[in-house]
Amino acid sequence: MTIDLTGRVAVVTGGAAGIGAAMADVLAAAGTAVAILDIAGDAAAATADAIAERHGVATTAVRVDVGDADSIVAAADHVASTLGGCDVLCANVGVQQFGAVDRLTDDDWRFVLDVNVLGTIRTVRAFLPLIRQRAGFRRIVLTSSLSVLAPAVRMAAYQTSKFAVLGFGETLRYELADVGIGVSVMFPGGMITTHLQSSAESRPAELGETGAQDDDLTEMLTHRPSAAAEVVDPAHAVRNLLADLEADHPFIVTHGEIGHDYAERHGWIVDAIDRGGRP
Ligand SMILES: NC(=O)c1ccc[n+]([C@@H]2O[C@H](COP(=O)([O-])OP(=O)(O)OC[C@H]3O[C@@H](n4cnc5c(N)ncnc54)[C@H](O)[C@@H]3O)[C@@H](O)[C@H]2O)c1
Repeated sequence: MTIDLTGRVAVVTGGAAGIGAAMADVLAAAGTAVAILDIAGDAAAATADAIAERHGVATTAVRVDVGDADSIVAAADHVASTLGGCDVLCANVGVQQFGAVDRLTDDDWRFVLDVNVLGTIRTVRAFLPLIRQRAGFRRIVLTSSLSVLAPAVRMAAYQTSKFAVLGFGETLRYELADVGIGVSVMFPGGMITTHLQSSAESRPAELGETGAQDDDLTEMLTHRPSAAAEVVDPAHAVRNLLADLEADHPFIVTHGEIGHDYAERHGWIVDAIDRGGRP
C-alpha cells in the first residue's frame, strides 16, 4: 500500500465484478469507503459486503444502468447521502461488441456507444459536482482498452468507443488540472472476467439482432497485434493502481507486452508529422 486514503470515498461503476471489483478492493485496502455501482444489483451488494468485511470500511451498493442518465444521477444522490461525497471515481463500465465493420448493425453501434461513451460521460457529469466539493486528493479513472494502443480486427464498435473514452479523458484532464483533480485513462489488456457474458446480459432487449458472428472472437485473437499479451487476473492488473493514482499518471497500462506494436504505430505518426513539415 502506498497511500493512506482513510476518510476518502471511492465510487466504482461496473464494480460488482472483474476489473471494477479489483479497483474497489485496492482502494478499500488503502482506507477509502466504497460505493459499488452496477447494473447487476445483487452482485454489487455482494461485492460491497465482501469488501466491507475484508477491509473494515463503509460500503454501499446501488443498481445503476449507465445507459440511463436518471439512474446515474440518482446513484450520485445516494452516494452523497450515505457516504458523504466522492473523492475517487472509477468510471469503469464497458460492454464488448464484436463484429466485422460491414456486419455491425446500427443497434450494435448504438448499444456500445451509449454504454461505453455516453455512459462514461454521464457518470463523470453526475459525480463531478461531488468531487469538486471536496479538497485534496481527488482522482477520476476512466477505463479504456489496450486495443486503443494496438487495435485489432472485428472490434470496430468497441475500439471506436474506447478511443472516445481516451479523447474524453484527455480533455477532462486538461479541464480539471487547474482545480487539482487528476484524471487517468486505464488501458486494460486481456483479463479473466465475465466481460462477454455481462455484455450479452446487459444488451437492451429492444435492440435488434446483432451482426456479430461466431468466428469474430477467434479472428480477433488470431490477428490481434497484441497476441503476446497474457490474459491475467484483474487483481494483477490493478496492483500498481494506488501508486499510479498517487503520482497522477495520465495513463495506466496493465500489459507491457504491447510495447513493440505501439512503438511501431507511434513511429508512423511521428513520420507523418515529419512529412507534414512546416508551411
Ligand atoms: N476483460 C478484459 O479483457 C478487458 C480488456 C480491456 C478493457 N476492458 C474493460 O474493462 C471494464 C470492465 O470490464 P471487465 O472485464 O471487468 O468485465 P466484467 O463483466 O467483469 O465487469 C463489468 C461490469 O459492468 C457491469 N455493467 C455492464 N453494463 C452495465 C451498465 N449498462 N450499467 C452499469 N453496469 C453495467 C456488469 O454487470 C459487470 O459487473 C470495461 O470497460 C471493459 O470494456 C476489459
